[in-house]
Amino acid sequence: MLKSHSCGELNKKHVGAKVTLAGWVDRRRDHGDLIFIDLRDREGVVQVVFNPEISKSCHQTASEMRSEYVVRVSGEVARRPRGTENPKMATGEIEVIAYDTAILNPSKTPPFYINEDIEIDENLRLRYRYLDLRRARMRENLLLRHQVVKFIRDFINDKGFIEVETPILIKSTPEGARDYLVPSRLQPGKFYALPQSPQQLKQLLMVAGVEKYFQIARCFRDEDTRADRQPEFTQLDLEMSFIDEEDILKLIEELFTAMVAALKPEMRLIKPFPRLSYNEAMARYGTDKPDLRFGLEIRDLSDIAAQSSFSIFRSVISEGGRVKGICVPGGADYSRRQLDELNRLVQGLGAKGLTTIALGTSAASLDSLTIGMVKSVAVKFLTLEQIKEMAERFGAKAGDLLLIIAAKPEVVDVALAGLRQEMARRLKLADPNMFAFAFIEGFPLLRRDEGAGRWASEHHPFTAPRDEDIPLLDSAPQKVRGRHYDFVGNGYEIGGGSIRIHTAELQRKVFRLLGYSDGEIEARFGHLLEAFDYGAPPHGGIALGVDRIAMLLAGEETIREVIAFPKNQNAVDLTFDAPSPVTEEQLSELHLLLREED
Ligand code: AMO
Repeated sequence: MLKSHSCGELNKKHVGAKVTLAGWVDRRRDHGDLIFIDLRDREGVVQVVFNPEISKSCHQTASEMRSEYVVRVSGEVARRPRGTENPKMATGEIEVIAYDTAILNPSKTPPFYINEDIEIDENLRLRYRYLDLRRARMRENLLLRHQVVKFIRDFINDKGFIEVETPILIKSTPEGARDYLVPSRLQPGKFYALPQSPQQLKQLLMVAGVEKYFQIARCFRDEDTRADRQPEFTQLDLEMSFIDEEDILKLIEELFTAMVAALKPEMRLIKPFPRLSYNEAMARYGTDKPDLRFGLEIRDLSDIAAQSSFSIFRSVISEGGRVKGICVPGGADYSRRQLDELNRLVQGLGAKGLTTIALGTSAASLDSLTIGMVKSVAVKFLTLEQIKEMAERFGAKAGDLLLIIAAKPEVVDVALAGLRQEMARRLKLADPNMFAFAFIEGFPLLRRDEGAGRWASEHHPFTAPRDEDIPLLDSAPQKVRGRHYDFVGNGYEIGGGSIRIHTAELQRKVFRLLGYSDGEIEARFGHLLEAFDYGAPPHGGIALGVDRIAMLLAGEETIREVIAFPKNQNAVDLTFDAPSPVTEEQLSELHLLLREED
């Protein structure tokens, strides 16, 4: 190699050693007589001193160095003169006195600072991703992601799973998103679909007798990007034969407990991982991916509200809506402006507005609360008993603030879940040193797609119904519970899986319920149904979003920060400028003609 040591590894034990380093100029300070260069490589930064009395030519070369030049330096490690040590730098006790150097490659002035952790326009970062990845934070994220994947592979391998690669050019695998299509040159007019997940492939591997499969699998979904969503992303995909739900949940709990202990030992977990039913999660948190690091639980006040004379509450309830709320501890003294802000927030989340009830700051306790101490637009329409009853439902104290939303059930849940999250952020309720992992179970198998006027899978069509609910598939599909489970962490859905259907008969029945004709079933899923007729074992599995796991462990707020070359919000790769037009010749080879857009 061109170097004997890495910059970041040097310390006072190396004093006196002759070293050769190579890397990038992080910073240059020219003091006329002495030139200081902070030299950076993957392992860190070290200070190099160019003294004309030691080497005139080196000093001359150093005077030509600029930020991000690639240079090689040979020198002797020395203690820094007393008083010039830098405790903020890992190598801050030493420096390298250069006696030989060379510029290996100059650099243009970079479009942003590499050596400072400052806010930079994300599109600029993505355009020059190779420079962005030189920044310490991104370098650490790449390393952490590598460690996460390595940990998973080792752990899963030790549990007897084998990694099997599955094709990228394949057929539509429904996971609820749009497919990416690849036109076939050899079969005019036909297309491959990129897998939304290896779902059917891993099920076929179970039919093949693999028993314990895993893959770090790339998946493709043409859906709008979000902080935790990319058009292509990576799953830890797992499948096992001869198991039930418990085997999968136990494995995942063990994996995450061990991974956090190994990679983020300072982080706390809630052990054992809580298990919530879907109904309980929706009732207490308004979402099936609750952040369990804090309380602020939702309470249903509809029965009390129905007794009040507040027309907003009464009319919503008479139309089948609900009145629910959360309680903000010590929030009774919020200003008009703060309350207006919260009102706008819930309006942005689809609710018409927010009813606030401030439980008198001057009352010593709820018992001594009088109606005159309560501040609320609804106060004229509520009795003191009703207000106290609401407060008791939250276990509220005098000085607390009730935030109440009356709306259609779906709207109430979405708005309160959003409000709960926002209040926790403002009040800093979420412990930054905690990963609150949990499992959600007992999802309904199907949900009504009102737009399309038919049933849709809550998870995907391969999820098995609970055995005892199978008869309901004919009589009351909405009541059928699926054998589906989700894995959540700090308010994110990290993974989802299920025990699968493994007989052609039941699978066909579910496809029909979902509105597929027999012809469509044959054309789209014939291969799977046929395989089920050749001795398919009972099986089940799960897939976990590797990008989301890395994001959580890195403490980042978007998965783009833990993906080397992510797409931007418009699904564009700005480094390559992809997608991009293709030539007429390529189109013709693929038997394609572009349509004129209106
Ligand atoms: P599901 O669709 O729930 O299940 O996906 C599993 C996990 O993959 C991650 N994920 C994503 N991450 C980033 N960007 C996206 N666009 C994206 N979409 C999903 C999430 C999610 O929890 N085949 C089933 C699994 C199974 O049944 O075994 C599946 O893919 O973390």
